[in-house]
Amino acid sequence: MTAHAVRTGVWFIGARGSVATTATAGAAAIAAGLHPPTGMVTETPPFTGAGLPPVTSLVFGGHDTLDCPLPKRAEALAAGGVLPYGLPSALEAELTVVDAEIRPGGPLPGDTRGDEELIAAFAADIEDFTRRNGLARTVVINVASTEPAPGEADSRLPASSLYAAAALRAGCPYANFTPSTGLRSPHLHDAVASCALPHAGRDGKTGQTLLRSVLAPMFVQRALPVRAWSGTNLLGGGDGAALADPAAAAAKNAGKERVLADTLGAAPEGEVHIDDVPAMGDWKTAWDHIAFDGFLGSRMILQTIWQGCDSALAAPLVLDLARLLARSHEAGLTGPRPELGFYFKDPDGGPAALPEQYAALLAFADRLRAAR
Ligand SMILES: NC(=O)c1ccc[n+]([C@@H]2O[C@H](COP(=O)([O-])OP(=O)(O)OC[C@H]3O[C@@H](n4cnc5c(N)ncnc54)[C@H](O)[C@@H]3O)[C@@H](O)[C@H]2O)c1
Repeated sequence: MTAHAVRTGVWFIGARGSVATTATAGAAAIAAGLHPPTGMVTETPPFTGAGLPPVTSLVFGGHDTLDCPLPKRAEALAAGGVLPYGLPSALEAELTVVDAEIRPGGPLPGDTRGDEELIAAFAADIEDFTRRNGLARTVVINVASTEPAPGEADSRLPASSLYAAAALRAGCPYANFTPSTGLRSPHLHDAVASCALPHAGRDGKTGQTLLRSVLAPMFVQRALPVRAWSGTNLLGGGDGAALADPAAAAAKNAGKERVLADTLGAAPEGEVHIDDVPAMGDWKTAWDHIAFDGFLGSRMILQTIWQGCDSALAAPLVLDLARLLARSHEAGLTGPRPELGFYFKDPDGGPAALPEQYAALLAFADRLRAAR
């Protein structure tokens, strides 16, 4: 098989969601030459020659508990201004092919299968996809709805951990782009320790937290003590609806606050609120209010307003992660990848500030290049 014929699978948990649909349609648009890869860090010069699988070689599939056809999901995203007008019809054939590779997720209400049966069924779906499509490997990425953190008394694994366990069982590199538990369940400790697969998480850093990871080091480096850091997010879409559940929002906010605690040394006063505003669809407004001290105790305020399209921010990062983890697997790199902390609110170790995380990512690109 020639290098060009090598194809890589990308298996999305939550394959019919906004982020997955935008990433799938985006990859098809880039492959067809309809749009440039704006926002894909792995398409910038430092990654040239690092051996990442080309976007044109990615093959998509996944699990979802919804059965709305992918072309219809893409049309809804275009109607909301997330995807460009006309793109879903231009890519209908490609989206229909991916739609046929999406398998029913779970557990659905009334599902009588136990954890082991669900893990085995999910792993079989992923293995079947890899085999039928003749893929060199498949990277599994969780972009499903945020779930509440499991309680200590819960005897069942949360869905995100069932899928994460299935990914390991199917021999796949894994990334958790959501705040859900995924691989970080104590019940998966042994499976993770012995898996010999690269993995990364947790919760993509795309907007408000991205800005926080840039601004917080500025206050530290300029010796300006932060007294309080408060934030409010307004968003709609499926993510807005999921985060209207206080338990799911708590899981999300823990990641946003962790970035501040890690960078400032301690969590400052102030909270993060997430309001579901369905009319905003996938567009988000995030307002931060930072109170800090200056020379001789002068009191100052910085306010920022971030207005972004959540899925358009997330999709190129998800494609980056798929390529980086596929290449890590090919190069025999295993275990948690702190070099990918650049992409996460709650990374697997490594520095907390964005410039150092970017430097670590570039060093990783050099390592992947040298491993050719
Ligand atoms: N900028 C961003 O968009 C961003 C940043 C960081 C994290 N995230 C996270 O990415 C995830 C996806 O966001 P979205 O906007 O695409 O949400 P969405 O609601 O549009 O999509 C989530 C999808 O997951 C599916 N799903 C739910 N439970 C499932 C299960 N048990 N098995 C399989 N599929 C299941 C839903 O049916 C839906 O299609 C969320 O957890 C969000 O917090 C997004």
